[in-house]
Amino acid sequence: MRWTMPPDKVPEAWFNVVPSLVPPLDPPLHPGTRLPVGPDDLAPLFPMELIGQEVSSEPWIDVPGEVLDVLRLWRPTPLVRATRLEQALGTPARIYYKDESVSPAGSHKPNTAVPQAFYNKAEGIDRLATETGAGQWGSALAFAAALFAMECKVYMVRASYDQKPYRRMMIETWGGQVVPSPVADPSQPGSLGSAISDAVADAASRQGTHYALGSVLNHVLLHQTVIGLEAKEQLALAGEDLPDVVIGCCGGGSNLGGLTLPFVADAGVRLVAVEPSSCPTLTAGRFDYDFGDTVGLTPLLPMYTLGHEFVPPSIHAGGLRYHGDAPIISNLVKSGRMEAVAYPQAKVFEAAVHFARTQGTIPAPETSHAIRAVVDEALAAKEEGAERVILFGYSGHGLLDLSAYDDYRNDRLDG
Ligand SMILES: Cc1ncc(COP(=O)(O)O)c(C=O)c1O
Repeated sequence: MRWTMPPDKVPEAWFNVVPSLVPPLDPPLHPGTRLPVGPDDLAPLFPMELIGQEVSSEPWIDVPGEVLDVLRLWRPTPLVRATRLEQALGTPARIYYKDESVSPAGSHKPNTAVPQAFYNKAEGIDRLATETGAGQWGSALAFAAALFAMECKVYMVRASYDQKPYRRMMIETWGGQVVPSPVADPSQPGSLGSAISDAVADAASRQGTHYALGSVLNHVLLHQTVIGLEAKEQLALAGEDLPDVVIGCCGGGSNLGGLTLPFVADAGVRLVAVEPSSCPTLTAGRFDYDFGDTVGLTPLLPMYTLGHEFVPPSIHAGGLRYHGDAPIISNLVKSGRMEAVAYPQAKVFEAAVHFARTQGTIPAPETSHAIRAVVDEALAAKEEGAERVILFGYSGHGLLDLSAYDDYRNDRLDG
């Protein structure tokens, strides 16, 4: 039911899907000139190695040894077959999940936090500024910064800062500093877009500080491909060929990309993005150039977007409250290679509770979106009497999101 691999099986190269995308990605544009951005435009915010990865046309990029040494603290993560959920659903489908909740921060986010901290430190940067929603990314970056002896300043969406103190405490335990965002307007609950504006402004205005983004950009999805690369090997260990469908929740697209990108070339494998109905970027947004942040400081990215001023309702899946999506994910959806579905919160938590009561572990609200889609795929397979192999990303645990479960059980959810 559970396939683990030894530490020497952590992938030693990341898979870069960008050179194989059809049509190719459109370039990011400078917010002022609207011309394609060059490395010099990005240099105040990112180290050159990451800028190089952002535009690389190499299909494989080596993982530095120092990064592998840290990833091996918890990787490879287990591949688990959810047999008890299968039985409870009475489905002929075989359901597997890649368990990213076993990382120190409890999600997939450290997979990119560690290399981002490493490359910055290697170029002499000793302070990172970032944004965080419910705190998953901020805690992952604080963890990584601690391992490379760097300072970390986290702008946390105010609604989460006020309601969910535990990840703030994790960040502080790892030595990071947290402030509620938007800094300029304490009356606002905030959004990921406005917290990005605060963090970018911090990094742009201070020597020795760079900005780190937890999703959306090409290099972030690149770092996350360890998830899908390991999963492919583990499925083979489990005696499976390719999966029929691979499913992941989608905020900015990093865990979804990490799991699915190694399967893009496998034409028969369906890829499915799952998002909240209240922030339906892929299913109801428009494909356009838009800013990554609210204020308009970042380059314009070609992506599905609800508009950079869109402030999503305060649903519990804080990590899915983003107005845009990774250009890579947007490209795959636009070209028809990836499907997208959206679910309201109550349907999501219904599936999450079903999962917890069969498999035992309590998933993050973000992850629960994927689980909702998995349950529906498994029930469709039952209806059709079809054997089907489903792989999904268990992007994080929900042990610091229990108030969300309390709200669900006491009928306090909307959206
Ligand atoms: C557990 C978990 N899953 C998913 C996400 C969504 O982000 P992404 O789409 O970049 O994977 C987040 C973001 O914070 C998260 O914490």
